Amino acid sequence: MEQFYSKVISLKNIADDYYLLDFRWNTDSIPRPGQFLTIRTTELTSPLLRRPFALSAYNGETHMASIIFQKVGNGTAILAQLQEGDILDILGPLGNSFSDYRISENGNITNHVVVAGGIGTGPMLYLADELKKTGKKPLLIIGSRTKSLVPFTVLNKEIETIICTDDGSFGFKGNVVDYLKSRSELIKKSVIYCCGPEPMLKGCHFFSVDVGSKCYVSLEQMMACGIGACMGCTCETEGKKKYTRVCKDGPVFESSEVKWT
Ligand SMILES: Cc1cc2nc3c(=O)[nH]c(=O)nc-3n(C[C@H](O)[C@H](O)[C@H](O)COP(=O)(O)OP(=O)(O)OC[C@H]3O[C@@H](n4cnc5c(N)ncnc54)[C@H](O)[C@@H]3O)c2cc1C
Ligand code: FES
Repeated sequence: MEQFYSKVISLKNIADDYYLLDFRWNTDSIPRPGQFLTIRTTELTSPLLRRPFALSAYNGETHMASIIFQKVGNGTAILAQLQEGDILDILGPLGNSFSDYRISENGNITNHVVVAGGIGTGPMLYLADELKKTGKKPLLIIGSRTKSLVPFTVLNKEIETIICTDDGSFGFKGNVVDYLKSRSELIKKSVIYCCGPEPMLKGCHFFSVDVGSKCYVSLEQMMACGIGACMGCTCETEGKKKYTRVCKDGPVFESSEVKWT
């Protein structure tokens, strides 16, 4: 983890209130899918805290990296105004990654189901790309409320992708868990990776229990320091250790470790 400054290469509006921010990755620590960075959005006192975002892409040859963010409040509204050449104050890469689990435990599994919802889409695009580069055939499932929130332009055409919309305006009508259930025969032989709103993660976890698949989730908590120092991001876990820090021990966890409420 390092603090560094980086120039904005480009900022594009890719769906309703969703932006793709490309910038130079000016540090030697290579970010992996699931890891995040924090950005100081202003030199003024408000917003005071750095804002956390997961990496949505990284290119080791060009040292370019990207995040996809949704404009939801003050900090992200400032980011949405950035111009090419503006300087970003970044801390990263932070947290663990999906790769930590995949490499150590899932070497023999052939089906990789990557599930994304809303602001969880960025890291899952990165994970699906990484799986593809290592010779796997990931199935990417993206859930959205409606078609105008789907970031079509950043999807990799070489990756099999299913879009689910709650209102049926595009693709499968229903949420991602409905889709998983509709293909449970295939998915029970898979490992499932998810990032998105908590009800989606919970649904994926209980689906994985029903079909006997492994499931990994990337959790999102309000964060203050983002580096494990303040205990502001704890979540309840099963087992001996009752609480864990999402920023330092996660954000990626095996779904059975999480106490779902
Ligand atoms: C590990 C991690 C990865 C994330 N990755 C992404 C991503 O790839 N793309 C994306 O769009 N968003 C991501 N988020 C959420 C993003 O950090 C918040 O949307 C952002 O901080 C909101 O800032 P704001 O000032 O615009 O909003 P605010 O006006 O401060 O708040 C709006 C809402 O944003 C959330 N929020 C605010 N501050 C934080 C904070 N410090 N930590 C967590 N949530 C906060 C709260 O739910 C709040 O209700 C991630 C969060 C975490 C913890
Ligand atoms: S945000 Fe401070 S410990 Fe996680």
